[in-house]
Amino acid sequence: MKSIKETSVLIVDDEATIREVLQRTLESEGYYCETAGNVDEAVGMIQKRSFELVLTDIMMPGKSGVELLKEIQTFSPDTAVIMVTAVSDTQTAINAMKMGASDYVTKPFNLVEVLMSVDRALEKRALYLSNRDYRDHLEQKVEKQTDEIRSTFLGALKALAEALEAKDPYTNGHSKRVTEITVTLAREMSFSEEELAQIRLAGLVHDIGKIGVPEAILHKAGKLTDKEFDLIKDHPAMGEKILKPIIRDAEVLAIVRYHHERYSGGGYPEGISGDGIPLGARLLAVADAFDAMTSSRPYRKAMSVEKAKGQLLANRGSQFDPEAVDLFIKAEKKLPFCPMTAQPASH
Ligand SMILES: [Fe+2]
Repeated sequence: MKSIKETSVLIVDDEATIREVLQRTLESEGYYCETAGNVDEAVGMIQKRSFELVLTDIMMPGKSGVELLKEIQTFSPDTAVIMVTAVSDTQTAINAMKMGASDYVTKPFNLVEVLMSVDRALEKRALYLSNRDYRDHLEQKVEKQTDEIRSTFLGALKALAEALEAKDPYTNGHSKRVTEITVTLAREMSFSEEELAQIRLAGLVHDIGKIGVPEAILHKAGKLTDKEFDLIKDHPAMGEKILKPIIRDAEVLAIVRYHHERYSGGGYPEGISGDGIPLGARLLAVADAFDAMTSSRPYRKAMSVEKAKGQLLANRGSQFDPEAVDLFIKAEKKLPFCPMTAQPASH
């Protein structure tokens, strides 16, 4: 809200003495005042600059104060208007209030009443404007808060995903490495910054659905039973389900959901194939498998990078998108291969 010093008032009256009295009174209270002797002059001034308040006589030669009120409502609807009228013509002032004027004062003036009326009209205007502003921005505020809540949850989920992996020496750092490799591959394919951000997010949380899989199964040293494997196979869809209320980006959710599909079909959860699998998920599948192979597992030692590459090539076109494998081989030098031999991965 503006301070009184910044509040500008236009006084419109055909009688110079009245303009002067009103101007002096309002200026002594700190208002900035300008004056006009008729409606046309006032309209010209209103079109040039905005006034918080117009104090206008009703009966003036030429156009009346009521006509000025109409002009103000067209050109400057946020300006408050107080009508000034003779006691004998209060009905016109009342009608003007019905048309939207804030108040009226009668001549001869009681200056204290004039000041009170000005204060009231400005207060009412400020309240109206702040309500309107609140209403207009409410949606944005709610949206912003929802985004903040989402990003807080997302941060917590990323931390949870990392903590789950860190707890287990066989998976420690897996999602981060998979993310780095997938992002490198995506860069090679000239993904946009927005798409890279999707890949980054999906990579970090792609295995979050494993929260729902018992640890005894995740870390089982021996072969999994069909039932156990079914539970493992739930984790991409479970991940999508966990993330859906927090991540609104369909692409990210799709990468999480489809990161265990096979290029030739028959993967899980849906068994879709080829281009039906989102490209991000196809890239992530290669990175995921590579990191898994080059990491130790409860049931086998880590594979060498060369051997893992051989496995990718051997499954080129069946498990993996051939283009993604070729890209991996071609971009090998750019890929962040840290010595992963002691770093395990998941099923
Ligand atoms: Fe996975």
